[in-house]
Amino acid sequence: MNKVAVIGSGAMGNGIAHVFAQNGYKVSLIDISEDALKKALNTIDKNLSRQVEKGTITGDTKLKAIQNISIVTNTEQGVKDAELVVEAATENVDLKLKIFQDLDKYCSQSTILATNTSSISITRIASVTKRADKVIGMHFMNPVPIMKLVEVIRGYSTTDEVTKTIMDLSAKLDKVPVEVNDYPGFVANRILMPMINEAIYSLYEGVAGVNEIDTVMKLGMAHPMGPLQLADFIGLDVCLSILHVLHEGFGNPKYAPCPLLVNMVQAGHKGVKSNAGFYKYTPGSKELVVSERFRKN
Ligand SMILES: NC(=O)c1ccc[n+]([C@@H]2O[C@H](COP(=O)([O-])OP(=O)(O)OC[C@H]3O[C@@H](n4cnc5c(N)ncnc54)[C@H](O)[C@@H]3O)[C@@H](O)[C@H]2O)c1
Repeated sequence: MNKVAVIGSGAMGNGIAHVFAQNGYKVSLIDISEDALKKALNTIDKNLSRQVEKGTITGDTKLKAIQNISIVTNTEQGVKDAELVVEAATENVDLKLKIFQDLDKYCSQSTILATNTSSISITRIASVTKRADKVIGMHFMNPVPIMKLVEVIRGYSTTDEVTKTIMDLSAKLDKVPVEVNDYPGFVANRILMPMINEAIYSLYEGVAGVNEIDTVMKLGMAHPMGPLQLADFIGLDVCLSILHVLHEGFGNPKYAPCPLLVNMVQAGHKGVKSNAGFYKYTPGSKELVVSERFRKN
């Protein structure tokens, strides 16, 4: 495998393009937004420079990585000749189903179609193609160049051969692939989101404050970041939507999102991206300040 196409050049797409290009693959990075593509190239350049400064890659590797990436706004043109497509477009079911229908038409019969979705069923995405055996989840973690895990998700019809190809490929990207089956939330979010939800319930019920909850989990469980800070970082709207997927998918009330989380999202307090969540974010400052609403007198 030599040529890969990445669809979507946002937070995840630029990282995915970065790791493939750094490891010698030709990458066609596709986005409907030209601005997003330019921004992605800038981010990749900056992140590769940081790796050169740290001595983890050479200047020559950086140069080759940049040369390996081409950007394009036309999907049909971008996926031509790709042996693998990794879709990392906006998390929206209808959008992804349309993208996979198109990919099935544009790509050669042998092309593997992977998705980086956090929560949408791989089997559902595969169902709109005529190659369900070659559709698979390749769930990278954010930030992609740094995080080692790739959750490799087998859809109901994904073959052993395709799964092995993606497991081996992930290892070649210097990642650690873990194979899981396609059920709501896969493994990562099925475990992470209830923990975050429980942390929000603990705050909602007055068991403890924001700092206290995060400190317990950081110092007591050796988590690098507390669950409330992590929720802000992921985006409270994203957490809420994944909890809805778990709740509907399993029909089990234990996944029902905490009313405080629902309220915060409705109020537009979505975490880092809106500068307000459990913590207050001031652009340019790294200081962690609890939002006024949750401050104790
Ligand atoms: N952000 C995370 O922490 C994270 C972690 C793991 C997985 N994911 C998943 O990765 C995917 C992308 O998330 P993100 O955070 O990078 O989103 P993002 O909003 O940063 O980027 C999405 C990009 O997709 C582009 N796009 C939309 N429709 C498109 C189309 N039809 N064709 C091509 N490009 C299109 C948008 O212009 C945008 O640049 C989602 O499925 C998300 O669930 C996100």
